[in-house]
Amino acid sequence: NGVCVVAVDGPSGSGKSTVSRRLAAALEARYLDTGAMYRAVTWAVLEAGVDPHDRIEVARVAESVRLEIGIDPDRPFVRVNGVPVDGPIRGPEVTRAVSAVSAVPDVRALMVAQQRALILSAGRIVVEGRDIGTVVVPDADLKVYLTASVDERARRRSLEHATDQSATAADLTRRDKLDSSRAADPLRRADDAVELDTTRLGIDEVVTRLREMLGVAA
Ligand code: C5P
Repeated sequence: NGVCVVAVDGPSGSGKSTVSRRLAAALEARYLDTGAMYRAVTWAVLEAGVDPHDRIEVARVAESVRLEIGIDPDRPFVRVNGVPVDGPIRGPEVTRAVSAVSAVPDVRALMVAQQRALILSAGRIVVEGRDIGTVVVPDADLKVYLTASVDERARRRSLEHATDQSATAADLTRRDKLDSSRAADPLRRADDAVELDTTRLGIDEVVTRLREMLGVAA
């Protein structure tokens, strides 16, 4: 079938990325990781020596960089002015600064415009982030809000990044608080989103449930 947009929102470590990529592959759809876009702008901000809390300079960097993002679920990539940044955008420096950068309204306006253009050109796509169901695609065909306990989210992240679990829990809690309390497009569940708690659900179970909701048998 034709156009179909699945919006997947939730806090970090809720399983968004893994679930979204797997679902996109199963649906033979495209996959857009909007967090990677905010991380790429943050990388450019740090690279330019700009203070992530300086909103004017941060907006200037966001306006001047050229972002390229790959939407094939089998090989996602991000480039800033032609430079691949897939490794560095997952590092601790970018992770520490990304919530400040993504709280800047001008940055969000630029990202949302690029995201909508990509989504329109894709036809069928799974999009993950914080504001997809609420702001980017309010008329998505399916909206999913993934959650999990802080302990479980910290456990997953520290396994992924080989970091200390309690430090990771502290960082997750800090980032979630910033992302949910900012004035511009905060993280929240859309009223019509399906909420799934993944604390005790495996990836396969989550993907299967979503396919059932979309009416695509597993
Ligand atoms: O999903 P990920 O953890 O990579 O996102 C990194 C950060 O980017 C989030 O903590 C949030 O500050 C920001 N973000 C956002 N809106 C989105 C996606 C990510 O503000 N749609």
